[in-house]
Amino acid sequence: MRIGLLGFGVVGRGVYEITASREDMQVVRVVCLEDVTLPDAEVTRDFQTVLKDESIDTVVEAMGGLHPAYEFVRSCIEAGKNVVTSNKALMATFYDELLPLAEQKGVSLRCTAAVGGGIGWLSELERVRRVEKVNFVGGIMNGTCNYILDSMTRLGLDYGEALKQAQQLGYAEANPSTDVDGIDTWHKLILSSNIAFGVSLDRESVPAAGIGSIAAEDIANFKAHGYVCKLMSTGKNGGDRCAAYVQPTLVPTTALEAAVPTNYNLITLDGDVSGRQSFYGQGAGRYPTAYNVVQDCVSILGGRSFYCPYGKKVPVDNSEKLRYYVRGGWDGEAAETWGKAVITEPVAVSEMHEWLKKHPGAFIAAVI
Ligand code: HSE
Repeated sequence: MRIGLLGFGVVGRGVYEITASREDMQVVRVVCLEDVTLPDAEVTRDFQTVLKDESIDTVVEAMGGLHPAYEFVRSCIEAGKNVVTSNKALMATFYDELLPLAEQKGVSLRCTAAVGGGIGWLSELERVRRVEKVNFVGGIMNGTCNYILDSMTRLGLDYGEALKQAQQLGYAEANPSTDVDGIDTWHKLILSSNIAFGVSLDRESVPAAGIGSIAAEDIANFKAHGYVCKLMSTGKNGGDRCAAYVQPTLVPTTALEAAVPTNYNLITLDGDVSGRQSFYGQGAGRYPTAYNVVQDCVSILGGRSFYCPYGKKVPVDNSEKLRYYVRGGWDGEAAETWGKAVITEPVAVSEMHEWLKKHPGAFIAAVI
C-alpha cells in the first residue's frame, strides 16, 4: 500500500512513525503546512501532488476539521483512492454522501479512529451488526472532558489547569470548545448511531450539553451525594425513531463509568443477542489514534471496505424523562436542593436542553 498522508499533527505524525517499520505499507507523500523533512517521503503543501500521483492507492486524512478535509477526501474517492480518516466531524457530517460515493467508486472508506481513539469500537460495531440488532450505544467518548472531570474530582485541579494539561498532552481538539461543549462527543454519537442502527440520524435534532460551566462547588456537591460526573452520550434505537443526546451525567461512585480515569473512554453497546458489551481504552492521543488508522489500512489490504449500508433518515425523539442537577436559574419543580443547585423532578430530555439554550451560564447534569 502506498499512502498519501494529509496532515502531520498529533495523529499524522503517529501514523508516519507506526508505518515506518512496516513492509506492507509506506507513506510516500505528506501534505502539511509544517516545515519538516522526512528521509523517505516527499513533504509538500500541495494536495494536488497526492491526488495526481497514480502510485498512491490510499490516502490517510489526519487534518481534522470539515474544510478542506471534505473537498480533499471527496476528490480522492472520486479519483479511485481508498481513504482512511480519523475525522469524526467529517464522517458525521458527510456520512450520507461519502459512503455511497465510495461504494459507487469501488474504493474503501474507513474511520475506526474517529470514535474512541485506540479502541476498536466502530470496527466492532461493524462485526456486531452482522449478527444482531443494536439497541443502544453510548458512554464516555471524549478523552479531554474525561481528563478534566477526572482531574477536578480526584486531584482537585481547577477547570482551566486541567484543560491546559489536556491540551499539552495532545488530547484536545485545535479549538477545545469543540471538546468541552460536547460537539466532539456529538459527532461521535451520531457516527456510532448511524453505523450501529443502520440509520442516518437527523443531526440537528440531537442536542449536546457540555461541561464548560462546571465549577468546584458542583464537584463538591456530587461527592457529598455519592456521585461522579461524566460527559456521556446516549443513542437508543427505536426503529422508526431514535433517542440521541449528549450531556453531563451523574453516575454512582460504584458504576463502571465512575472509575474511568484520565483520557480513557468507556463505550457501551447493547445487542439483541450478545447483550451489554463495554469497550475501554485511551480515547485520545497520538499513538492510540494512529494505531486505529493503521488497523484500517491493514483491513483495506485484507479487503474490508466500509462499515455498513448507510440507512434511512430517522427522526430523533428525546421525550424520555430524567431528573437533572441544575445550578443556575431553574424555576421549574425541584425535588431536592444541593447547595446552590437543585435536583429537578423528571423532565423530558428535549425540554431540558431547550431550557439550557435560554440559560447558557447554567450547569446541568442528568442523574441516573
Ligand atoms: N479531542 C478528542 C478527545 C480527540 O479528547 O477525545 C479524540 O477524538
